[in-house]
Amino acid sequence: PPAAAGGPVVPGTDFAPVAPNKEDRVTIPEGYEQGIVIRWGDPLVEGAPEFDFHGQTAEAQEKQFGYNNDFAGLVPLDGEGRRGLLVVNHEYTTESHMFSNYDEDNPTEQQVRISWAAHGLSVVYVEKDRAKGLVPKPSEYNRRITLNTEFEVRGPAAGSDHLKTSADPTGTKVFGTQNNCAGGVTPWGTILSGEENFHQYFGHSELITDPVAAKRYERYAVGTGETDRKWERFDKRWDVSQEPNEAHRFGWIVEIDPNDPESTPIKHTALGRFKHEGATIKIADDGRVVAYSGDDERFDYIYKYVSNGRFKPGKSAHARRHNSALLDDGTLYVAKFSGNSPPEEIDGTGKLPADGHFDGTGEWLKLASGTESFVPGFTADEVYVFTRLAADELGATKMDRPEDIEPNPVNGRIYCALTNNSNRGSEGNAAPDEANPRVGNKHGHILEFDDDTTGTEFRWNLLLVCGDPNDPGTYFGGFDKSQVSPISCPDNVTFDRFGNLWITTDGNELGSNDGLFAVPVDGPERGKVKQFLTVPVGAETCGPVVLDDLITVNVQHPGEDAEDAQHPTSHWPDGGDSQPRPSVAVVWRQDGGEIGRR
Ligand code: FEO
Ligand code: CA
Ligand code: CA
Ligand code: CA
Repeated sequence: PPAAAGGPVVPGTDFAPVAPNKEDRVTIPEGYEQGIVIRWGDPLVEGAPEFDFHGQTAEAQEKQFGYNNDFAGLVPLDGEGRRGLLVVNHEYTTESHMFSNYDEDNPTEQQVRISWAAHGLSVVYVEKDRAKGLVPKPSEYNRRITLNTEFEVRGPAAGSDHLKTSADPTGTKVFGTQNNCAGGVTPWGTILSGEENFHQYFGHSELITDPVAAKRYERYAVGTGETDRKWERFDKRWDVSQEPNEAHRFGWIVEIDPNDPESTPIKHTALGRFKHEGATIKIADDGRVVAYSGDDERFDYIYKYVSNGRFKPGKSAHARRHNSALLDDGTLYVAKFSGNSPPEEIDGTGKLPADGHFDGTGEWLKLASGTESFVPGFTADEVYVFTRLAADELGATKMDRPEDIEPNPVNGRIYCALTNNSNRGSEGNAAPDEANPRVGNKHGHILEFDDDTTGTEFRWNLLLVCGDPNDPGTYFGGFDKSQVSPISCPDNVTFDRFGNLWITTDGNELGSNDGLFAVPVDGPERGKVKQFLTVPVGAETCGPVVLDDLITVNVQHPGEDAEDAQHPTSHWPDGGDSQPRPSVAVVWRQDGGEIGRR
């Protein structure tokens, strides 16, 4: 493909950037090709019927690819990476797009059951294909995990009184996972996935009279009255006045082992309970496993977990079992950030302080370790189940919506997307600080850490302060802003094998569609953001998988910006007047060459 203009280019980012646009399609660089891997409703598990928009059933949806694909992780099945398991989160359902006759005041039981089956995850066996990029194939590995799948609760809060329900008096078995947003592939070949906005599915917290319990629901934003989806009409578990602990059984990091289709998925309580965007792993020099996780809410926190035991290399069933158990026995921390510039130099506009950087040091505050709590007034169980309240107590730093956080496999530093925070600095809310430097932060920023993995100290700086490069309140790693792509609302992050950071966006506030961007983080082109693709109207770009020879992105909720929810603004990917379908898109080079290399 043609090289990008402007001289030598960092390997992996040598492509001609696409221009921001509002088109109802995926746009990609010249010299590249695209296709669809799988769409909502495509048959996945043996016996699944073909998708029928007007004749959908819960039984069909249980065997078909789910709705609103967010994170994807690819677990290779061979050394060359020709065959693999694509594991995909299905974050939430958009009933007005899923059903032609949806009455939001009176959903039918069949519609509700279809939505339960459309949540969760899919395991999709895929093979690389020269003409089609990546192709799903029938396989014993193919699997759906839904709101009806049994999970095992593990770690120090398993069996806690806060997790017991009338259906599960043991507090160790939960049906389903929901709002799975981002995630990560573990070094032992399993998937970690974050249960994020679970609160929206639970209602009637106004009926809770005990003030301690009421405060806990409030801190997690569990709603009052009926829920939007009205599931509580069909199963009392969604009504906290009837089943007060069910909501506490969501908000965890879950682990799926795609290598074993019979495996019971796990909820790991040692990593705490909040609106987990996802979790990703770094192996410390001494072999301990470190997991990083963000709580995606305005003014919420960044966490890390350090295991007691040590990583066993390999991906055998034995190694997977051993390493998974490391996530059940360790220490949970929350981050506190300190800036190194005088606070008066952080004026809220994004203007750099006199030392030229938003940067400083930080401390990991210890929350709990095993059955020991380090938070005054909290038992260890309470720290794990009501982690937000425990972190409040320690005075952790309130961040601008911490989304995906991931270690860079090349330089070892940790990168976190802070997506935005329109309330930063508004009345009654936290003022800007050096780590969250803008008032009403519309476009978000990217934080870079140098973390002493198992220790309690770190150094940090802002790699990007996002937005229109012509806006003086933006920063692109010190790179010449006349040569970068505009970027707004960073959400998911991943890395190519050269260590370049790839970023997807959610909710572009610059007026164009969302997209996927690449940016070198070391060397003379540090901060040179280039847009690789754009997604259709109303869609969010999610879960990028960046390989040497292909890239997949999950196109989530195309058309969801419609004023009239029954008439979505997108007809992607089937075109014409078809219903939009969340899908996995794949991009590869026409000549079969490497991504971003000449
Ligand atoms: Fe589901 Fe934080 O995005
Ligand atoms: Ca500074
Ligand atoms: Ca997200
Ligand atoms: Ca990621």
